[in-house]
Amino acid sequence: MRVMIGTKTIIDDQVSKIIINLVNTNPKAVLGLATGSTPAGVYAALVNDHITHRTDYHLIKTINLDEYANLDTDHPNSYRTYMNNHLFDHINIRLEHTHFPDSTPFVASFLEQHPVNLQLLGIGNNGHIGFNEPGTPFESSVRLVSLSDDTLSQNARYFETPDQMPKKAYTLGISDILKVHQIILIATGPHKARIIKQMIEGPITPQLPASVLRRHPDVTVYLDHDAAALLDQSLDIYTKGGVALDIIA
Ligand code: PGA
Repeated sequence: MRVMIGTKTIIDDQVSKIIINLVNTNPKAVLGLATGSTPAGVYAALVNDHITHRTDYHLIKTINLDEYANLDTDHPNSYRTYMNNHLFDHINIRLEHTHFPDSTPFVASFLEQHPVNLQLLGIGNNGHIGFNEPGTPFESSVRLVSLSDDTLSQNARYFETPDQMPKKAYTLGISDILKVHQIILIATGPHKARIIKQMIEGPITPQLPASVLRRHPDVTVYLDHDAAALLDQSLDIYTKGGVALDIIA
């Protein structure tokens, strides 16, 4: 695992460039995408790049990490709506190439036939990745889950009233995420500092699902200075249990 620490602007710039480079070098790449406040700046940078450089997405396929259950896809808070608004409506991707986990067996067979080249991840305040909540077995695959109280309270702010938030969601499993070739996790803001310290410096445990990423051969974690504030940063670059730390800005 590599850990890169920098400003939010630098992070959005570097991560978007990695995605643009993948799209340019592999026009049929499969992107694993995430929603939430964290990746919005990366998507804005991809849209700007598409407007300026016409980066071509017409053969690109995407699979999102998760989607609420029992919420219309055109609901303002569905993850489909988020992705359309932040990215898909502004680039030349074909909507039929963009996928979300749902109740059908489609996603499992899609993942088998289309290995994901790059997965973008955020992290929940409780350490979840996708909606794989604390206690999820590392062997889990795509399925319907009940959201934890932490997640319900973290995401209820997006709904008009907290009781409108769905209590269940479909998510890719941890084993699905670990199969991806390259993983980028972004965390920003002081509210992520505690969970980031545990993810990087604590034990690898199902109680903190994101900690399993330390077992994956190609994971880069991008942190702003607030999210990195509690890390042991006594050296600019150091190795700690296989983790390389680098200050980029
Ligand atoms: P956030 O959510 O980007 O809104 O902080 C991250 C997550 O819950 O995975």
